[in-house]
Amino acid sequence: MDYKEYVNNILKNIPLGIAITGIDGYVKNANDQLLNMFGYKLAEVMGNPISNLFKYPDRVEKLLQKGRSIIEEEVYVKARTNKIRFNVSAYPIHGIDNEKVDIIYIFNEIKRERKLANKIIDNKAIYTFDKIISQDKSFNRLIYFAKEIADSKSTILITGESGTGKEVFAQSIHNYSNRRDKPFVAINSGAIPKSLIESELFGYEEGAFTGAKKEGRPGKFEIAHGGTIFLDEIGEMPYDMQTRLLRVIEEGVVSRIGGLEQKVVDVRIIAASNKDLKEEVEKGNFRKDLFYRLNVLPIRIPPLRRRKEDIPLLIDYFMERISNRLNKKKILISEEKLDKLMDYDWPGNVRELENFIELSINLGYIANGEEDEDGLQLKGLKEYKYENLMLDYMEKKHIIKVLKIFSCNITKSAEALGIGRNTLYRKMDKYGIDCSDFEQWSVMEQNK
Ligand SMILES: Nc1ncnc2c1ncn2[C@@H]1O[C@H](COP(=O)(O)OP(=O)(O)OP(=O)(O)O)[C@@H](O)[C@H]1O
Ligand SMILES: [Mg+2]
Repeated sequence: MDYKEYVNNILKNIPLGIAITGIDGYVKNANDQLLNMFGYKLAEVMGNPISNLFKYPDRVEKLLQKGRSIIEEEVYVKARTNKIRFNVSAYPIHGIDNEKVDIIYIFNEIKRERKLANKIIDNKAIYTFDKIISQDKSFNRLIYFAKEIADSKSTILITGESGTGKEVFAQSIHNYSNRRDKPFVAINSGAIPKSLIESELFGYEEGAFTGAKKEGRPGKFEIAHGGTIFLDEIGEMPYDMQTRLLRVIEEGVVSRIGGLEQKVVDVRIIAASNKDLKEEVEKGNFRKDLFYRLNVLPIRIPPLRRRKEDIPLLIDYFMERISNRLNKKKILISEEKLDKLMDYDWPGNVRELENFIELSINLGYIANGEEDEDGLQLKGLKEYKYENLMLDYMEKKHIIKVLKIFSCNITKSAEALGIGRNTLYRKMDKYGIDCSDFEQWSVMEQNK
C-alpha cells in the first residue's frame, strides 16, 4: 500500500464526515462517512465549493483565511438526506512544502437533545403559559382565567379529554403563581397500584408495615409543602383514599401511616380528570363532597375538534419544535392534506397531533391520511409501530449481539453481519449503539 492509499484508508475509516479543500474552498477529497451523511456521490462533491454542503458564515471564512481553526460550530447543511444541522470543525493544515494550505473539515452529528415530555424532574414544573398554543377565543379566555387564579389557594379541578393539555395547564399555573420556586409534586392515581397510593400521598413512619424503610418516608403532601400538588387522574382514586384526602383538604394537616404526629401542610391542590366526575358521583364511584371541594375553580379544556382553527397553528408549532429536536427537515403539507387533517376528529387531541407530526418527520412525509375505521393517525402509527419498530428492534438486538461477540471490532462484526462497515456505523448511530457501553457491561459481567 503506498502512502496515499494508506492515508485514504485512514480517512475512510474514521467515523466522522471529513472533507478537504484547498484555501480556495474547492473540495479535494471527502470520505465515505461524509458522503453518507449528506447523501451525495463522491463525483458530486469533488472539485465543487464546500459551500455547496453547508451555509458558510462569513465569520468562518475570515477565520480560516487568517489560518485560525473553527471548533464545533453548528451549521445548517444542504444535504440530500433529511438532516438539517451538523457540527463542523475546520483546521487549516500546511502541506509538505509549508506553502500551500489546505483546510480539513470534520462534520459530526449534533447529539439529540433528550425529549422532555411530561416528565417532572426534581419536583419542578417545566411548562409555562407561553408554550400553550391556541388562537381560539374561548381557549384564550381560559388561559386568562387560569392566570387570574394562579395565586389563589383554592383547589382547581381541570377536566378535559385525554391529550387536551391538563398537565400542561397544571404546570403552567404553578409556574405563574407565587409558589413557582417551591415544589410541584405530581401523583397519578391511575398509574400506581391502589395499595401504594396511601403511602405515596401521606408517607409512613418507621416500622409502619413490613417492608417499610427503617427511617420512614415523607409523603407527597409533605414534599409539596409550600408548593403545589397535582392529583392527576383523580377519578381513579380509591373511595377510602378519597375520604382521607377530603380530611386533608378540610383540616390542612397530614399524618404519616403509623404515625401520631399531625403535620400542618401548606399545599395548593390542582386535580385533573378525563372522566366526567359529576357522572362518577352519580354512579357512586366518587364522593360528592370531595367533588365539590375540588371543583372550586373549574377549568374545562375543550377537545381539539372544537377549535379546529388551532390545528394548522399547532402543526406549524410542532413541525418547528420537533424538526429541531430531531435534527430533521420539516415536511411540507399540501392544502389537500391540510384539509384532511382539519376534517379529522383527533380523539387523542393535541398529544395525537404532536405524535402524528413526529411520526411524519421521522418518515419524511405526511403519514397516510386515508381514512378508515382506525382513523387517520392510527393507520400511520400502526404500520410504523408494529412493522417497522418490530423489525428495527430485532435488528438492533442482533447487531448488539454480534458486536459483543467480536468485542466491538467493526470490521469483523460487519463481515459477520454481511454488511459494509459504513452501513454498520450508520445502523449503530441510528440505534444509538455505543461500544463504550459494552465495555462497561463486560466489566460488570466479569465482576458478577
Ligand atoms: N395548547 C397546547 N399547545 C401546545 N402543546 C400542547 C397544548 N396542549 C397540549 N399540548 C401538548 O400535548 C401533550 C399532552 O398534554 P397533557 O399531557 O397536558 O395532556 P393531558 O390532558 O394531561 O392528557 P391525559 O389525560 O392523557 O393525561 C403535551 O405533551 C403537550 O406537549
Ligand atoms: Mg395528563
